[in-house]
Amino acid sequence: MPYQIKVNGKQHTVDVDSDTPLLWVLRDNLGLTGTKFGCGISMCGACTVHLNGNAARSCVTPISSVGGAEVVTIEGLSPNGSHKVQQAWIAEDVPQCGYCQSGMIMAAAALLAHTPKPTDAQIDAAISNICRCGTYQRIRKAIHRAAA
Ligand code: FES
Ligand code: FES
Repeated sequence: MPYQIKVNGKQHTVDVDSDTPLLWVLRDNLGLTGTKFGCGISMCGACTVHLNGNAARSCVTPISSVGGAEVVTIEGLSPNGSHKVQQAWIAEDVPQCGYCQSGMIMAAAALLAHTPKPTDAQIDAAISNICRCGTYQRIRKAIHRAAA
């Protein structure tokens, strides 16, 4: 059935089953492939987007639950990579393979929006995303840089 969703400030109509994960709507229907599929069971965070400013795992978010929420993906975080988290990521040279990184950046941006100066413990509690390349130390440094 048709669903109206607002993604990165634009309204879209998508005709999908009610249990279709938001992740597949973003990637397959809207062509926003910056959001990645990792596990599909809410474990890895590769699929993290913002729903009304909060980090959400789009692989376990059925389209029927999105309603009028504002969805923001990595493509909508800034028009040109100028968001303070993206800039800190570049400065700290965070990514290795890069696969997990859009989810990491979205999780970090949501954390900083709610907690402008997070402690290491707050970072560790908020960023439960998994990085197979083990970039956790640089992620933490970049979040502190973005918070500074
Ligand atoms: S793909 Fe969604 S949490 Fe892993
Ligand atoms: S940079 Fe490779 S999985 Fe995180």
